[in-house]
Amino acid sequence: MNAKQGELRVLMFPWLAHGHVFPFLELAKGLTKKHFHVYLCSTSINLDSVKNSLNNNDIPIELVELPLPSLPDLPPHYHTTKNIPPHLMPTLMKAFQMSALAFSDIIADLKPDLLIYDGFQPWAARAAAAQGIPPIFFSTSGSTSLAFFHHHHTHKSWDTFPSDTIRLKEHEKRAMIAAGESIKVKNVDDGDFIFGIFKLSCEIVLIKSYRALEGKYMDYLSSLCERKLIPTGPLIAHGDDEGVDDRDLEMMRWLGEREEGSTLYISFGSENYVSKEQMEEIAKGLEVSGVNFIWVARSPAGGDGGASVPEGRREKGVVVRGWAPQAAILRHRSVGGFMTHCGWSSVTESVYYGVPVVAVPFKADQPVNARLAVEAGIGVEVERGEDGGFDGDGVARAINEVFVEGREGFRRRVGELREKMKVEEEEAMDEVVKELSRIINKGRQQYTKD
Ligand code: UDX
Repeated sequence: MNAKQGELRVLMFPWLAHGHVFPFLELAKGLTKKHFHVYLCSTSINLDSVKNSLNNNDIPIELVELPLPSLPDLPPHYHTTKNIPPHLMPTLMKAFQMSALAFSDIIADLKPDLLIYDGFQPWAARAAAAQGIPPIFFSTSGSTSLAFFHHHHTHKSWDTFPSDTIRLKEHEKRAMIAAGESIKVKNVDDGDFIFGIFKLSCEIVLIKSYRALEGKYMDYLSSLCERKLIPTGPLIAHGDDEGVDDRDLEMMRWLGEREEGSTLYISFGSENYVSKEQMEEIAKGLEVSGVNFIWVARSPAGGDGGASVPEGRREKGVVVRGWAPQAAILRHRSVGGFMTHCGWSSVTESVYYGVPVVAVPFKADQPVNARLAVEAGIGVEVERGEDGGFDGDGVARAINEVFVEGREGFRRRVGELREKMKVEEEEAMDEVVKELSRIINKGRQQYTKD
């Protein structure tokens, strides 16, 4: 598959996480519709998932394999964050960084007009710039969390962030400090990680964001990072079956038999796992609230999540041990709430499908995303104690607020936000294309990094 005459050629390079690869893929699909030729570079295992999701559809995206060095602890099926045992994350990051030279060769070979890179690889932006190719940062995180962390980096304070509601709790601050990081990944030995990453981006930064939910924080982030931010909109995959495969049919049938808005969907994303104790508290909360539920209870590398569905309540719930078709579940009329860790894609999908949030944030950007959802009036957070723990009664109270007490208000507000997001979605890609074309057409010679 070669680029056609006159097409602008873009190399896209996400971090090796599901929550990064798929927004990059959606952006890639949008660009191919606007006459860009797109190369998408990732590890073999991530490219396999991409191929599955493209499902032989005739989408002209050229997949380019990134060879990771073979490290003893890191077989190829762990060349992705999906299902990787958490203790291997630093090893994956190390292997990723060790692929810098190979990536530089890929750039030299393809000679694209532009590189779109992710936040974990400042070295990729520098490699492109060194070859005269403009690098553009695409953030798959939202504007609010990035503004929050950028504010902390600049002003050395969490508590002066310009918002009354977006604050970290003491146990979250302790966790952030203990982790010795503003976001999440250890083993990153690069001064440009997180904040310098913006400055490496040529004039603009693309961001998976939408003004309806976080316009004011987008403006604040733009002033902090000194780059024009171009929102891409929600980047939701649109497909006929939305990942529903044969294993899911029984669950979808069960869901179809529940009343409208009666079911809580519970999932903590692609790389977050709750402890057995926390699972038990969630189970108690479900028992007390009496709500129907679909609970994605996975553990690393496909082990038993250990979630206990209380006896006698089996008709009330389904426990999924593997990968759930999240989009298809969220858009189902029987779903009335989403208990989520508040990963950015999950919050985005909740708004997109008009489902109020029961927030259980754990780490990184998740607490900020949870506070944003609460600030927007589209959800509540499960209360946590001083030590960060939560109990079944708190879980039940939060569920009750979303499903009973505040039901109409939450549904109305998330519905309004959804409408605004859809308008932005339609306009976003035109603006992205205009900006990328402008930068390419300015010519490589005129490009300056700062
Ligand atoms: C990670 C980080 O943990 C989070 O802090 C950051 O905001 C994003 O990256 P992740 O687990 O990938 O989070 O969560 P999220 O951003 O919510 O993305 C998960 C994606 O996987 C969603 O698109 C969701 O629809 C999909 N998913 C997840 C499924 O389709 N099925 C599943 O079973 C689990």
